[in-house]
Amino acid sequence: MFALKKLSPTITDMIRFDHSHVLVTFHQYTADARPKVKKALAETICDALEIHATLEEELFYPAMRGIDNDEPVLLKSVPEHNEMRRLISELRATPATEVRHAQLLQQLMRDVIHHVADEETVLLPHAERLLGKDRLSELGVAMTKRRLELVGPKAGKIAMETAVGFSGSTAALVLGVVGTAAAALLLSKRAARPA
Ligand SMILES: [Fe+2]
Ligand SMILES: [Fe+2]
Repeated sequence: MFALKKLSPTITDMIRFDHSHVLVTFHQYTADARPKVKKALAETICDALEIHATLEEELFYPAMRGIDNDEPVLLKSVPEHNEMRRLISELRATPATEVRHAQLLQQLMRDVIHHVADEETVLLPHAERLLGKDRLSELGVAMTKRRLELVGPKAGKIAMETAVGFSGSTAALVLGVVGTAAAALLLSKRAARPA
């Protein structure tokens, strides 16, 4: 457990990464994309947001309530997740061939961008100031564990949507290269570290 905790990214870094992933996916949803691609991108966003919201509600927000209970951003976070869930179900019920599909996704993303801005400029810095690195890494371990449980039943669907949504996109290429470079850097740092 100790070794895992030491290697684990903090919960705050994981939250930031989830936010970036949703934004990068949204950037692929262009007016000229095929309906099949639009549908896959919207599904990728919906699945990612649902899993992310559950993880925050089960792990991050309870930890924040212990240190920052009256913070207004924290108080409105769950109602905002619930409004997001309402929009997600409306979006899922709308065919990607309709203009309404793009409008609903844009409305969802407007809300998400505001919510994410509040988290990244208020809650995450508070957590990093008040919780301490060890606790943040411990929560990171718990988040990874719970994420595997939540993703498990949907893993095939999520992989398929990602493949369709990002087919032929330069972002996928860039993310792939950046991801590989980051992994190589991490491994070389680990290898260089004295045992
Ligand atoms: Fe949130
Ligand atoms: Fe978030």
